[in-house]
Amino acid sequence: MSSTFPGREHALRITGGTQLAGSICVSGSKNAALPEMAAALLTKQAVVLSNVPKVTDTVLMAQILSGLGGRVEGEGTMALHMGGAGKSDVSDELGRRMRATIVLLGALLGRFGHARVPRPGGDDIGARRIEQHLRGLRQMGAHITETQTEIVGEVERLRGQRIVFDLPTVTGTENILLAAVLAEGRTEIFNAAREPHVQDLCRLLAKMGARIEGIGTERLVVDGVRELGGAEHTVIADYLEAGTYAIAAAAAGGELRIECSRPEDLHVVLLKLEQAGAHVEVGEGSFRVGRQARTRLKPIDMSTWTFPGFPTDLQAQYMALMTQADGESVISEYVHENRFQHVRELAKMGAGITVQGRIHAIVHGPCRLRGTDVSIPDIRSGAALVIAAMCAEGDSLLRNAWHVERGYEDMAGKLASAGAKIESVTVDSEATTAGHSYE
Ligand code: EPU
Repeated sequence: MSSTFPGREHALRITGGTQLAGSICVSGSKNAALPEMAAALLTKQAVVLSNVPKVTDTVLMAQILSGLGGRVEGEGTMALHMGGAGKSDVSDELGRRMRATIVLLGALLGRFGHARVPRPGGDDIGARRIEQHLRGLRQMGAHITETQTEIVGEVERLRGQRIVFDLPTVTGTENILLAAVLAEGRTEIFNAAREPHVQDLCRLLAKMGARIEGIGTERLVVDGVRELGGAEHTVIADYLEAGTYAIAAAAAGGELRIECSRPEDLHVVLLKLEQAGAHVEVGEGSFRVGRQARTRLKPIDMSTWTFPGFPTDLQAQYMALMTQADGESVISEYVHENRFQHVRELAKMGAGITVQGRIHAIVHGPCRLRGTDVSIPDIRSGAALVIAAMCAEGDSLLRNAWHVERGYEDMAGKLASAGAKIESVTVDSEATTAGHSYE
């Protein structure tokens, strides 16, 4: 996660063809840590989070919280003292760099009755709408105005309400939870997102004194309390990082033990890997995934869905795996409306993939992949390109590695320790990489 000089950028250099062996320890979840850091706004006491992944998104959230007048100490184990926070306006410059800053809206309204956050734009993986967040907060009494560039909310005190999502939204559920815990009365969220990171946020809030029922289900009931206190909490293991390395092991072959993880969050992913011909052995807090070189991969169709379905955040990696399968597979993306950016870059390596409309992609395996220079379009596509490069003949250079650094702690180091030929290098920036866009 080191910085680069102007005109220089991080890239990943990968030589394909080696199998994986050994073990990798999974870090804490980025998508849990971000709303949990925002939750620290809801108390004057310290919230101490351990297992915070050392990735650029958590560094950015710490900077934003400091900018609001709080004090954030440490990395990995992070003490957040937001008692002294006095500002409820999120800096444009920092806020725009990460879509997850939207969860500050619910937390700031709960703490200050006022919030101003930069409007998260649509991005490469879809429109990324937030109307359900705003509808819920309005129902709770907030007066919200939207401009092209920002969202401003005002409220005397939030009131509990019955909120129905027409489709489960992860940060929308988190936003309403953060608003509801200090609201007056009962909030019910129907069709809530159930992802492990949403559940983990509920557990932290409960430790802080929040009254939440239905954790892990699609109906969350929150009884607002007057005040929340400090808490100590270990951020849940990142099932998306674990799933990424599991898919990498199935693709590259060999045998990898994935430690510090929660295989129970990956049932559908592990099922698909077994159906495709990988060997999976599940333990307590760890699991193994392997494939012998002589075992050919089978093409297995896959559709993404909200938890506990196959996560959209592992779709690109699974597509890279299917390029190595003996036959055609259909991959359907039902969560985000435009999440096939990796297809163009995979094609540069020799993958045969046909995208049909906005939902389906047909992978024409087996594809003989060749190492080449590619440009990472977003975080999960980056993970997919790493997997493809590990299966390719020769060397690949993956530019725009900053995308991967946003959410994967030391991916190159972890994979290299398991035998992959991968290193993080510094190269001259391409002129076209100047404008960063964020998931
Ligand atoms: N949606 C609406 N209206 C809304 C909210 C969402 O139509 O008000 C739609 C979205 O446009 C999208 C779908 O519902 O098509 C799901 O969106 P969701 O709100 O659940 O996504 P998110 O909260 O913006 C989080 C993760 C994403 C992950 C999605 C889905 C964080 C910080 N981000 O985004 O993670 O893909 O949930 O699981 O938790 C990543 O880590 O790579 C990443 C993009």
